[in-house]
Amino acid sequence: MKKTSIIGCGNIGTAIAKGFIKSGRGNSDNLILTARSENSVKKLSDLGFNAVNDNHHAIKNSEIVIIAVTPQQMDDLLISIKDSIDPEKHLVLSVVSGVSCATISEKLCCEMDVIRVMPNTAAAICESMTCISHDGASESSVSEAVRLFDSLGETIILPENMMVPATVLCACGTAFFLRAIRAASQGGIEIGFHPDQAIPIAAQVAKGASALLTSSENHPETEIDKVTTPRGSTITGLNVMEHQGFSSAMIQGILASFRKTMEIYGSDKKK
Ligand SMILES: NC(=O)c1ccc[n+]([C@@H]2O[C@H](COP(=O)([O-])OP(=O)(O)OC[C@H]3O[C@@H](n4cnc5c(N)ncnc54)[C@H](OP(=O)(O)O)[C@@H]3O)[C@@H](O)[C@H]2O)c1
Repeated sequence: MKKTSIIGCGNIGTAIAKGFIKSGRGNSDNLILTARSENSVKKLSDLGFNAVNDNHHAIKNSEIVIIAVTPQQMDDLLISIKDSIDPEKHLVLSVVSGVSCATISEKLCCEMDVIRVMPNTAAAICESMTCISHDGASESSVSEAVRLFDSLGETIILPENMMVPATVLCACGTAFFLRAIRAASQGGIEIGFHPDQAIPIAAQVAKGASALLTSSENHPETEIDKVTTPRGSTITGLNVMEHQGFSSAMIQGILASFRKTMEIYGSDKKK
């Protein structure tokens, strides 16, 4: 892995850093992390990372710069690092929601390749789904970004106007599916499982169900048909869930999350 800095290493930055280590590509020689406060830097150091609060030092010592601050912190950060960025040397990747490639390169005051990535916290265990977009970056820059995030799970390249939907399905989606697993475990407790059995059982069932799809090109209903016998237990449960609005709740939740994400992050007209 090329020398990489993660600038603003909070929740997602740390997940990415952990994933690089887990994948075997990252180590303390090629990965440097930054945060603002001493406390956050110490937390990262305690996890065994090479962490500093000096963005300039981190950028100077890296070729790939992954920006992972919040959207509200992005303007100040870009202003403060623009003199450290060398378009000949650095490839800038941003996980920041709602800030376009054009806005980032404009604020860094240079013509350069900027790539947006939308991973999720499962990057920490190399199981992220990462959406990648750019606005005319070179093939080598795009390949570099894809190679990097392929080591943290699956990747897909999308047009930049799909990054808000990607935020909802890829990043928020982790929470949606975790809530579904929690609900299954709560049902499990009511039918007799102890809580410390119900959660791992529900989580492994969800992982298996997901793997049935990722290991084939089957539609979910093809797999559902295999466990659904006429007048049986599965269809009885499924139909009650649907009458109670299971699919509808997920769809409506995703639409509401999309509307909210557009409201918060959809104002960058350069997307
Ligand atoms: N969380 C997710 O699942 C996820 C997934 C995909 C994308 N994203 C996007 O990733 C971005 C970050 O989200 P997050 O949840 O990781 O936020 P977060 O936990 O608040 O992390 C932000 C980090 O940036 C640091 N920071 C702020 N300004 C800085 C500066 N000038 N120099 C160096 N470090 C600075 C903060 O340091 P201090 O702690 O010292 O203040 C903090 O460690 C957001 O745009 C979000 O939409 C998040």
